[in-house]
Amino acid sequence: MTAVIGLDISIAPAGPDDGPAIDALLARCSVQTRYHRFFSPVRYLPLEYRAGVLAGDPARHDALLAREGADGPVIGLASLVSGPGPAELGILIQDDWQRRGIGTALVAELVERARQRGERCLQATVLPSSVRLLGWLSRIVPMQSSQLSGESATGLFPLV
Ligand SMILES: CC(C)(COP(=O)(O)OP(=O)(O)OC[C@H]1O[C@@H](n2cnc3c(N)ncnc32)[C@H](O)[C@@H]1OP(=O)(O)O)[C@@H](O)C(=O)NCCC(=O)NCCS
Repeated sequence: MTAVIGLDISIAPAGPDDGPAIDALLARCSVQTRYHRFFSPVRYLPLEYRAGVLAGDPARHDALLAREGADGPVIGLASLVSGPGPAELGILIQDDWQRRGIGTALVAELVERARQRGERCLQATVLPSSVRLLGWLSRIVPMQSSQLSGESATGLFPLV
């Protein structure tokens, strides 16, 4: 478990019992936040993604939760889905907890864990209107390149 300096929150891997707390997190998030994360105003987590989060298999899907205190409500979810290509980073912070450093702490820990597993590269895809987020990520892990299409912007971040 990791602490974020100055905030009474904790960060730990997701496990099989965290489904209801993760569903509640999504329900508390604004449409805008859900849209920015999933490119659609989803009311429920995509089933395959949810199953991956709860499976607790970091080599395939490493998911970290930020909670209020040691065991309070879940206020953030960040995950790295591995595949044949670069691992896909996704992150969501509850609206009223954004811009306090929690996203940075979650990404930094995911990156550290990925390096320890021998992951070579990750990518993150954001809406074109949020391309500034790639700059934010590149301050945590340097970006090699980015590609902008009409519907999204994807950054590539080597880990080795
Ligand atoms: C993006 C997000 C994860 C950041 O989490 P956070 O806890 O607020 O992040 P931190 O407080 O650690 O850092 C804030 C940084 O995020 C950036 N940021 C946050 N929201 C942003 C937005 N909507 N557009 C552009 N940049 C944004 C800022 O650049 C800021 O960096 P700076 O102030 O150092 O320049 C959070 O705002 C969120 O959940 N957004 C909705 C989902 C999303 O966009 N996910 C990313 C695509 S998977």
